[in-house]
Amino acid sequence: MVEVTKDLRSFIEGIEKIGLLKTVKGADWDLEIGAITDTNSKSNKYTLLFDDVKGYPKGFRVLTGALLDSRRVSTALGLDNAMNNMQLTTAIRDRLRNAASDHEKYKPKVVGSAPVLENTDRGDKIDFFKFPIPKWFKHDGGRYIGTADAVITRDPDIGWVNVGTYRVMVKSKNSLVMLMEASRHGRTHYQKYLEAGKPCPVAISFGHNPGLNLFSANEVPEGVSEYNFLGAVRQKPVEVFNGPVTGLPIPADSEIAIEGYITEEKADEGPLGEFMGYYAGGKMLNPVIKIEAVYYRNEPILLGTCAGKPPYDYSYFRCPIRAALIWNALDSSGISGVKGVWCHEEGYSRAFTTVSIKQSFGGQAVMAGHIASQSRPGAVAGRYTVVVDDDIDPSNLNDVVWAMCSRNDPATGIDIINNTMGTPLDPISKHVEGKDLLEYTSSRAVIYAVKPFEKIIKKTFPDVVRPDEETDKKVREKFADLFTAKK
Ligand SMILES: Cc1cc2nc3c(=O)[nH]c(=O)nc-3n(C[C@H](O)[C@H](O)[C@H](O)COP(=O)(O)O)c2cc1C
Repeated sequence: MVEVTKDLRSFIEGIEKIGLLKTVKGADWDLEIGAITDTNSKSNKYTLLFDDVKGYPKGFRVLTGALLDSRRVSTALGLDNAMNNMQLTTAIRDRLRNAASDHEKYKPKVVGSAPVLENTDRGDKIDFFKFPIPKWFKHDGGRYIGTADAVITRDPDIGWVNVGTYRVMVKSKNSLVMLMEASRHGRTHYQKYLEAGKPCPVAISFGHNPGLNLFSANEVPEGVSEYNFLGAVRQKPVEVFNGPVTGLPIPADSEIAIEGYITEEKADEGPLGEFMGYYAGGKMLNPVIKIEAVYYRNEPILLGTCAGKPPYDYSYFRCPIRAALIWNALDSSGISGVKGVWCHEEGYSRAFTTVSIKQSFGGQAVMAGHIASQSRPGAVAGRYTVVVDDDIDPSNLNDVVWAMCSRNDPATGIDIINNTMGTPLDPISKHVEGKDLLEYTSSRAVIYAVKPFEKIIKKTFPDVVRPDEETDKKVREKFADLFTAKK
């Protein structure tokens, strides 16, 4: 049996076994890979392995659609792939619960060597254009090697290692430029090095088992590495090797990796299609990475992804992880009665969060809503947090909207929180010449789509209209042909 979490190649084999893989030959890196990836994410949702890319040797491949649904997210984590959204969220939350306190147990295991060291380029030999790096869409400012990447930095004071997903554009054949937004841990590390007058050591993996992206692209707490969180959910440490230049731990299953330094120098970066589905951030000035070494496996696979109007290639995968992180943040803040959390794909996992609670005292919904909205995994680029009762499945958009339309009083049941964390990538944010990306703020709404608490204790909230249980069961049996799924 394939151990699907071993590396990217074993993951691809696992996905092929469940019938979700398609190999695409002859696509052009210039716009075609992007167009196919986006159209696929809105139609058949295959995992796509691009080979024989126009102008590139056979075997230099690109993988997209890696984490399009719950089957693929659970496969990447080594969990049962038959779980629905709420079952998956609950399984992840249970395993994450002790990840921070128990993290020593799941720290990465250092191995002596790795297949990515099969080829090493340094100095004049470095040429990123040897890889079929996509230009995803026409208005992108360049070719993006880093979309589903893992950017590894170390805190110079305390020594903890962060793994973040930050976009990386090819600036020239031997240099890269990267965007790290406000609040990002990699940015904090970089700023500490800058303040000490030193370049910031960095390693980046551009292809690896996509399980790592589930954590590198989500707001896990500071101070504990994403490697440990992934290890905790898989209940098996992640294997890494120490980069020969920086000593930073690089995933042992990496397909393509670099080591170098994030410098003080800034260069034009972007635009790139962004997670909200727009080109709001435009072109920016961002730090240049000076490359010391490029490593790659024979016949390497670049892991990639692109944004658009949801559903898009990466709009789903952060939903169950973010929901689990918010749920655990509610628990550790002492919020009782939480029965479920879901982050909707329509809000690209960030902008539409639903929390279901069993109300047992007045004001409980306000506590849950505000904490969910302002906990770090809920706060970054958040917009709407909806609190519903425990008879509503928070992952069922139909039920959530019905609860909003029937249990929320707009005049009294919506809290607006002003001046919360913002982002220049928000299409409605105000761009002013010279504004730093750390300055952006925006607002949040918390919507209480819950039964008024006094109607719960007085038992005066009306019953939901539905067939009684006995008749429902009877007609389902008697008229079974009406209710079986259409073939
Ligand atoms: C495909 C993709 C691309 C991303 N690009 C960026 C980016 O360019 N800059 C950034 O700051 N965050 C980006 N993010 C969001 C971060 O990965 C996310 O905020 C994560 O929590 C950052 O890690 P950190 O919390 O360790 O800083 C991206 C996420 C995804 C899924």
